[in-house]
Amino acid sequence: MAATYKISELAEQVGLSRTALLYYEKLNLITGTRFANGYRTYSDKDVQRVRLLQQLQSAGLTLKECKACLEAEIDRELLSQRLKSLDEEIEQKQRARNLLAAMLGEGDSKAWHESASQVAPDAHIEWLVKQGFEEKEALRLKWLSKDMNQHDAYMSDFMQVFETLDRWGPGSSEETLNALKAVPSHPHQILEIGCGKGLATTVLASNTDAHITVVDNEQSALDRLEQRFGELELADRLTSVAASMTELPFTDEKFDLAWAEGSAYIMGVTNALKEWRQVISTDGYLMLSDLVWLTDKPSDKVKVFFASEYPDMQTVNTRREQIGQAKYQLIADFTLTTEAWKNYYQPLKVRALELLQEKPQSQAIKDIITEVELYEQHLGEFGYQMFVMQKF
Ligand SMILES: C[S@@+](CC[C@H](N)C(=O)[O-])C[C@H]1O[C@@H](n2cnc3c(N)ncnc32)[C@H](O)[C@@H]1O
Repeated sequence: MAATYKISELAEQVGLSRTALLYYEKLNLITGTRFANGYRTYSDKDVQRVRLLQQLQSAGLTLKECKACLEAEIDRELLSQRLKSLDEEIEQKQRARNLLAAMLGEGDSKAWHESASQVAPDAHIEWLVKQGFEEKEALRLKWLSKDMNQHDAYMSDFMQVFETLDRWGPGSSEETLNALKAVPSHPHQILEIGCGKGLATTVLASNTDAHITVVDNEQSALDRLEQRFGELELADRLTSVAASMTELPFTDEKFDLAWAEGSAYIMGVTNALKEWRQVISTDGYLMLSDLVWLTDKPSDKVKVFFASEYPDMQTVNTRREQIGQAKYQLIADFTLTTEAWKNYYQPLKVRALELLQEKPQSQAIKDIITEVELYEQHLGEFGYQMFVMQKF
């Protein structure tokens, strides 16, 4: 004999209240058999029906829509919409899950660091600092390793690649000089921010009489720069400061020219335009270079690459507008030549391939090679733009 259930038993079977089932009954979602004494009984079929209803409800359907579905009047349009929103919900939950897993040091933290760095760049850095990373390492984690657990190993390989290379970004002496020539007055106090090993610094020193203060947060780069200035007998015109570009340790408006080749992106170009004003004299100048889009229709590969590597990459026009909005007058801008890029990536590729032999598993080295290959194949869709501007 088929099992029958009283309403309280059905409620227990499906984990719903008696009141909820009475409401289902009222909507004709279930129909118990009523006895003369007023009691209703339900069958296994009712149990199954309620379970199906519960599943449909958890897929986001209202009771009325559930009923229509069960009665085979399926509204495909409605179900497709629900399916879409369910997919979005799952994606959102997956992201939330990734966040918790990343915070616990489990799973793939790369995607999370990338997304946190896009949607909440300042909060992301602050959070990393709270986790015990110094700002220097937090910024490197954001831009380079994107992985808290592998960070030290990643950075050690990364620095091993770069330690023998003098150029840490695209550029050439000619183009540094061209940008300098666009500055209308002779600077006396130059500040170079993110100077690396000082290739541009040498050009600035050789073509002005200015005193040059250099700032970088990588001491090994500053050491090489000081050595270079010593060899050129320019040491008396140099002050080298290990500090962060995010908190420049100088008194107000000290410099009549600030120079930043390939480094403003680290704190964000609009942030840099705003913060660095404080150390530039009234009517002083700023030259910064930045990676920009040179086409409206980049190939998919390039789009995907920069969506994670430099999500704030802009067109030249957008940067020009931002420069104006930050109260600078743009004086000149130009795109670095392919030669300037080759100066950077050709020795980098040779070095990375050489080290890959020793460390075939190194993610840092593999990432560098992938990046260089993208440059080789797609340069022209993007490029480096030098912007010379005057503060007003
Ligand atoms: C892409 S490299 C460019 C170096 C150099 N201007 C060139 O073109 O070769 C960026 C430089 O910024 C420095 N850097 C990174 N984060 C920094 C920070 N928070 N403050 C100061 N310098 C920083 C790096 O050590 C590196 O030297």
